[in-house]
Amino acid sequence: MTTATATPAAAARALFPDAATIIDAPESRFPLKLGVENRRIRELFHTATRMQWNPATDIDWDQLHPEQYTDEQRRAARMYWSRRAWGEYGAISESPALQIRFCHERCPPDMALFFSIRSQEESRHAEVCYRMAEALGGYFDQPAAVAFQGSVASHGIRKVALDPAISLEGTIAALVCAAEEIAFDVFRHLTEITVNPVARQVVKAILRDEVRHCAFGWAFLDQRMPQMSAQEKDVVRQAVINMIEKVELNGYHSSWLAPANPSSTAEMEVDEITHQAGLGATTEALEKPVFLQSIAAMRERMRDNWGIEIPMFRHPKIEGPF
Ligand SMILES: [Fe+2]
Ligand SMILES: [Fe+2]
Repeated sequence: MTTATATPAAAARALFPDAATIIDAPESRFPLKLGVENRRIRELFHTATRMQWNPATDIDWDQLHPEQYTDEQRRAARMYWSRRAWGEYGAISESPALQIRFCHERCPPDMALFFSIRSQEESRHAEVCYRMAEALGGYFDQPAAVAFQGSVASHGIRKVALDPAISLEGTIAALVCAAEEIAFDVFRHLTEITVNPVARQVVKAILRDEVRHCAFGWAFLDQRMPQMSAQEKDVVRQAVINMIEKVELNGYHSSWLAPANPSSTAEMEVDEITHQAGLGATTEALEKPVFLQSIAAMRERMRDNWGIEIPMFRHPKIEGPF
């Protein structure tokens, strides 16, 4: 970082103008500063190291009782938990890509330290969801319908994280303060409505990690935004809008938001059956108010903390702008 107003991305571009991705740029590590530069993130790192858990032993798997459910319920729940595992797996590859970016841009060292644990946490989430599907009768390694892969496959963060032309601040704001924050609110809602004790334990365990993932994003942006120009802040704003419109409202986290087609209808059915069985998942009717509240809270916080205005959105499944 050179001046208070130049973003790390701009500095990186000035250093390596021809680099297509940061992998192509020569590595330069020194001087290596390891002191605390973002206290909130350093504290998250220390908390995370204290809060490790083991999906194999810290969940009371014998309380699941899969035999108490019908074949249809078990099959739906297997699909639901497999889908959760695919999403968490996406985070496993995005997380180290961001970590490479933090090192490349000489971000506060607290960020890379925290993300080393964040990657582990996403791995645990993938494993615990996989174990849940297995315990219910078997994990599915791909969606039933190819059409749905477009919605669940990726939000493209891994590629974006390695592209020096794309603002890191925008990426973190979109990925963490928008997408992960919505996922967190839905997870909290799941801890309230999930009946099966094992399914509930699993969502609670994931939620305890996700609270730190969200806090990281705000701690980073709350420090960076006051140092940024109006133009740079607008890049952040646009990245958030894109994440909501192109990813969230396309059904990345919630199948009822995906474009209506036979595969998204089938996924909604999976959610409905899993939810009715008490094995996880929520429904359009229950999730909608949570989703809307999450968007409203995010908009308010970005306005208060960062001084940016996120516009109202529209979606065919939601009445009026929100
Ligand atoms: Fe996760
Ligand atoms: Fe996460």
